[in-house]
Amino acid sequence: MNYHVLTLFPEMIEQGLNTSIIGRAMEAGLISLQTLNIREYTDNKHGRVDDYPYGGGAGMVMQAQPVYAACQAVRKSIKSEPRVIYMSPQGQVFTQKMAEELARENDLVFLCGHYEGIDERVLEEVVTDYVSIGDYVLTGGELPAMVMIDAISRFLPGVLNNEESAACESFQDNLLEHPHYSRPAVWHEKEVPSVLLSGHHANIEKWRREQSIRRTLERRPDLLKQAAEEQLLSKADLEYLEQLKKSASFL
Ligand code: ADE
Repeated sequence: MNYHVLTLFPEMIEQGLNTSIIGRAMEAGLISLQTLNIREYTDNKHGRVDDYPYGGGAGMVMQAQPVYAACQAVRKSIKSEPRVIYMSPQGQVFTQKMAEELARENDLVFLCGHYEGIDERVLEEVVTDYVSIGDYVLTGGELPAMVMIDAISRFLPGVLNNEESAACESFQDNLLEHPHYSRPAVWHEKEVPSVLLSGHHANIEKWRREQSIRRTLERRPDLLKQAAEEQLLSKADLEYLEQLKKSASFL
């Protein structure tokens, strides 16, 4: 996967992604990251990239010309037409499913706006996808682009090692993960659930699945509803869920 990020703050992207799992994947050549500084593409002799909004109002607007030139430079370097994703709170809300789908592309271009946004006319010409990372407003598209790159990269072969990949399975069924415990077996007088110390693999798996269902029901019932609708729950899952809903312990 080749990521291309168009931004006024390339160092933010580079520094944010060069550590941990994503940094390791870049070193291993599984992903590449190219940042383009939009300022370097301006025709303006003072290096200007923004101007006042027509019609008045607060803030500045990023001008069409440098954004278009930076975008054309990236497109020219790629054989096929890439998807160009504009990070915006007005976009479709990013999900795990979208991350999985985008992971199938060879190249992805992220366009990060700043200030009040980017001149609409260039967006109309270059953007293929408008994506938001949630219903709140950030100061720019850089953090959202990093969030997306992180989530997409986890789906690329080899990025996660076996252990990390097994750990990501549980969200795939739209369920939240079960709780985790490590040594010591007793901490602040709290004991680790005994099944986890039993060594009985099947019982441990059953307990974890039930904990996932319980936790999702408590914290994200919307996800559980979706999992049921998409038929991701087994007969045993549904039976446990029924039992849970009836029991007084679940409130
Ligand atoms: N730019 C500013 N806020 C944003 C958000 N929530 N998602 C994506 N891009 C943004």
